Amino acid sequence: MLAEPFNWHPGMWNMLIVAMCLALLGCLQAQELQGHVSIILLGATGDLAKKYLWQGLFQLYLDEAGRGHSFSFHGAALTAPKQGQELMAKALESLSCPKDMAPSHCAEHKDQFLQLSRYRQLKTAEDYQALNKDIEAQLQHAGLREAGRIFYFSVPPFAYEDIARNINSSCRPGPGTWLRVVLEKPFGHDHFSAQQLATELGTFFQEEEMYRVDHYLGKQAVAQILPFRDQNRKALGSLWNRQHVERVEIVMKETVDAEGRTSFYEEYGVIRDVLQNHLTEVLTLVAMELPHNVSSAEAVLRHKLQVFQALRGLQRGSAIVGQYQSYSEQVRRELQKPDSFHSLTPTFAAVLVHIDNLRWEGVPFILMSGKALDERVGYARILFKNQACCVQSEKHWAAAQSQCLPRQLVFHIGHGDLGSPAVLVSRNLFRPSLPSSWKEMEGPPGLRLFGSPLSDYYAYSPVQERDAHSVLLSHIFHGRKDSFITTENLLASWDFWTPLLESLAHKAPRLYPGGAENGRLLDFEFSSGRLFFSQQQPEQLVPGPGPAPMPSDFQVLRAKYRESPLVSAWSEELISKLANDIEATAVRAVRRFGQFHLALSGGSSPVALFQQLATAHYGFPWAHTHLWLVDERCVPLSDPESNFQGLQAHLLQHVRIPYYNIHPMPVHLQQRLCAEEDQGAQIYAREISALVANSSFDLVLLGMGADGHTASLFPQSPTGLDGEQLVVLTTSPSQPHRRMSLSLPLINRAKKVAVLVMGRMKREITTLVSRVGHEPKKWPISGVLPHSGQLVWYMDYDAFLG
Ligand code: BG6
Repeated sequence: MLAEPFNWHPGMWNMLIVAMCLALLGCLQAQELQGHVSIILLGATGDLAKKYLWQGLFQLYLDEAGRGHSFSFHGAALTAPKQGQELMAKALESLSCPKDMAPSHCAEHKDQFLQLSRYRQLKTAEDYQALNKDIEAQLQHAGLREAGRIFYFSVPPFAYEDIARNINSSCRPGPGTWLRVVLEKPFGHDHFSAQQLATELGTFFQEEEMYRVDHYLGKQAVAQILPFRDQNRKALGSLWNRQHVERVEIVMKETVDAEGRTSFYEEYGVIRDVLQNHLTEVLTLVAMELPHNVSSAEAVLRHKLQVFQALRGLQRGSAIVGQYQSYSEQVRRELQKPDSFHSLTPTFAAVLVHIDNLRWEGVPFILMSGKALDERVGYARILFKNQACCVQSEKHWAAAQSQCLPRQLVFHIGHGDLGSPAVLVSRNLFRPSLPSSWKEMEGPPGLRLFGSPLSDYYAYSPVQERDAHSVLLSHIFHGRKDSFITTENLLASWDFWTPLLESLAHKAPRLYPGGAENGRLLDFEFSSGRLFFSQQQPEQLVPGPGPAPMPSDFQVLRAKYRESPLVSAWSEELISKLANDIEATAVRAVRRFGQFHLALSGGSSPVALFQQLATAHYGFPWAHTHLWLVDERCVPLSDPESNFQGLQAHLLQHVRIPYYNIHPMPVHLQQRLCAEEDQGAQIYAREISALVANSSFDLVLLGMGADGHTASLFPQSPTGLDGEQLVVLTTSPSQPHRRMSLSLPLINRAKKVAVLVMGRMKREITTLVSRVGHEPKKWPISGVLPHSGQLVWYMDYDAFLG
């Protein structure tokens, strides 16, 4: 039992001092006294404290008290002293000792620890001042030198500011000592909010005083990545690169769902909850250049940052997202939302990451996590390339020698069939060296992992399993900053994830039933920088509560828009419909005329279409296709702003199209951009007239701007809206202002025009344009109506239904 609430009467002083002296006795004989450490656990009666932190502090005490430090533990919360004291006593009831400790010893240590632990209410500025006074008085009474103070914030982020201000103004220890404040995620919601929070904390604490916890960095298998790479430098030196690594998978699967936590989860979703932090941290440890000295925190953190700098930006197509079927219902129930509410928060995500540096160029890193999946497991798996062919039959293959067996290295974080942290190295790779705190392990007979029997691996597990928080508490105590997230690293990570999060904000996740029933529904594939579900499943038109939808509930909406056919669906389905239609048109044109002339728009909307065409349309007659540009910015063709660059990055480099069939707009002639005297527009027009029969494209793909512009034909600017010119130079209201564009008369000569409109930003103009007549001067898009061809609108639900 704990003592009465903390009123510092003389009897209490004596008790505490006696406890501290007793605890110090052993170490005084062995070593010099290293100073006193006060640990203040804020949120001492909360869930995290109950589950992990008190046990971690007890472990810290067991590990360190004998080495010359003395401790006092202050459990703090807003709760009034009496009630808080009781709650804390409950949290401390279940402390356990290491398995190999004798029960009598255990009882003795526990008793000492309880004597050193006190509850106190920390609510007002005066409470913090009193805490400081008490620590000082306690040190003085016992004649102890102060080493430092640790404040562990196990509280929600909204409470940070107040606590931080109070610590800064009244609880800083004196000169020659250290202050460490420990913070738990979430550290913001996106780059902006993370930056705000960091700035706020930066007004109270120095960078070196802050320890941001990512508990995955305390998982034993994760904490072993760098030491393992270091100890096995010789074997890994030549293997750890794009020549040898096929791909890297970083995975955290869970069986639990978000029930009971939807108020948090609805705000965050799986990418913010797990990928942005835990999985990204693992990725950096796998991918970073190994510092010469892996124990140098400064070098580790610097190398980590370099990984962030080399990450290729994510596109919408880099990720797939899912949501377990009952999630929306749980949100409606827990957050009192109306029946019509449907959440778009992903509970499952897989993301394809590329690292553009010499070591990793071209190697896919797949990050994947989800709730309500079939098993709980976490790992980082490095799969090596294998181009060996074995002549002897399989029965003669020996695990240690055969190059035909899979070659992989797995940092098994925990759970799964193995049930514990482990490091697995295929026997045909090399025999690894691990520190003595890891031992060779055996699993249950017949156990297979990652496609091979366990016996095909050198398998190691920790001699003593330790909880992540306990590992991290020890690292905080020893000031090992490399196990924590610095402000710079945090912001670099948000910088990387925020654009993807924004682009997915309105994407409808694929629904999955949960658990084993998911079957193959979430299986995915990747190629050309894109991830996609292996199985096609059209999105639900109007998802509603009730039983799981049947395939017949899914459909693509067909209707009319401005008297022309309209195809509408969720974006993913819309893009695949449009890609199919383009392929069908191409095949028909090539069959009839021997070639297909396609004019494409730039901008962001068609990117997903280009990627779809590049990856999923093997029957496309590229060899007979001529590609033209609908419009172009007056920048060099190698400029990232150039429409041609977009086409090149997302389509051309992935398909086999004769280079003489590609027709970029000549915006850059004589080392000048769109100079009238260079006659670029006329040159392009002549090229079209010479190659395209009747100057009539088989298909023109257009977009529609929020101001009603199409191609580079802008409202209130007469250029290109009528007349004889096929190609014109125009002026855009936004930068870069100078543009080259097909004219409206040329567009209207096409056999088919498809207009692709996507995203909420287009909702207003979509509504407006649906009502206006033929007014190209105000809304150039309203002038699109092929004379003898067909016009089809492709709109996603965000743009069309709102
Ligand atoms: C937390 C997430 O950070 O990690 C949870 O907020 C998730 O959603 C948990 O369940 C998983 O951690 P562990 O240690 O159980 O793998």
